[in-house]
Amino acid sequence: MVRAGERTVQLYRSWVGRTLDEVETPAAVVDLDLLEANVARMQDYADAHGIALWPHAKTHKSIEVGARQLAAGAVGLTVAKTGEAEVFHEAGVERLLVHHPTYGPAKWDRLAGLVDDGLELTIALDGSDAAEGLSRALARGGGSAGVLIEVDLGMRRTGVASPADAVALARRVDALPGLHVDGISGYPGVRVPAGEVRPYLAGVDATLRATRDAIREAGIRCERVSAGSTPTRYMTHETCISEMRPGTYVFLDRMEAPSEPDGGLDACALTILATVISTSVPGRAIIDAGSKTLTGDRHPDGGHGIVLGVGGSLVELNEEHGYIDLESAATSPRVGDRVRVIPNHACTCVNLHDALLGVRAGTVETVFPVAARGLNW
Ligand SMILES: Cc1ncc(COP(=O)(O)O)c(C=O)c1O
Repeated sequence: MVRAGERTVQLYRSWVGRTLDEVETPAAVVDLDLLEANVARMQDYADAHGIALWPHAKTHKSIEVGARQLAAGAVGLTVAKTGEAEVFHEAGVERLLVHHPTYGPAKWDRLAGLVDDGLELTIALDGSDAAEGLSRALARGGGSAGVLIEVDLGMRRTGVASPADAVALARRVDALPGLHVDGISGYPGVRVPAGEVRPYLAGVDATLRATRDAIREAGIRCERVSAGSTPTRYMTHETCISEMRPGTYVFLDRMEAPSEPDGGLDACALTILATVISTSVPGRAIIDAGSKTLTGDRHPDGGHGIVLGVGGSLVELNEEHGYIDLESAATSPRVGDRVRVIPNHACTCVNLHDALLGVRAGTVETVFPVAARGLNW
């Protein structure tokens, strides 16, 4: 029996060379020209400012997309989950930053196993439990890993609360076998209106500088300052951040498109190709993409994505149905018509798909298996 994921990959591969009109829907489609432009633009920015780029691979979970980021000049990839680290290491990625409070003996053993297998591992930590556990696991194979002390940058999610706490943790970590403090990290992920991003980032910068300086004054190495999200990415050079970890930039989505100075929605590389399957209810066109294809992630302006082509808002989703409200539509779609939807949130959307169709000028050129899809453990 072929597993579901492999079945999709096989089917998608049989579509290489076909036009998008010929493939089945719903399907996640990546415009290769836009993807390559997004990768290049981010890398050019990082290079121009001497900032190391560590793209967050949670957005694409794909070996091929990660390889394109690395080929363009990314120093390493960032992941959240141990399973993602395993997939990318197995694919030959040499340098990974695991940015998630990784807890539990099984996970520490798995990470230590990757180090023993040659992975250059950095981990972001905000507490000594995880540091001690990972240190014990590393000791068994004699391996070592770099640590970034995670600082809370206002999200109140993870990260130590003050420079003094960062120094205390850095001291404890540096004393543990197998671990060495390399620097600090934070996630500037507080959602602020577009006009307030720069002031927010100035506060982030002040926090990071104070923490970095306090750790250095304590005599501990603090060379790396890791941060950077998609909304803040083009302002990174105004801060002390020395390495950045944007993820969503690679595809962009409805949420993050406004952060793109040149393209906005035109730069969104990921769309869901869907078919109108019913127009029986007046004022509605129903597509074959619901929350199991697009995710139920909300947008502050409402709706579940931007419908390209016919226009109209995607006002509601069931699991396998998407409701287009035709009042605002430019045309009246008929059953069988195809639409493209820019999802609200690319990362959660991609995680619903076993593979992505890489398309150029309307023709399927390649398939990106979403190799780390669903690896939440
Ligand atoms: C720790 C961390 N770093 C980097 C990122 C990437 O940010 P973005 O999705 O804005 O590109 C995320 C996103 O969730 C994150 O949690």
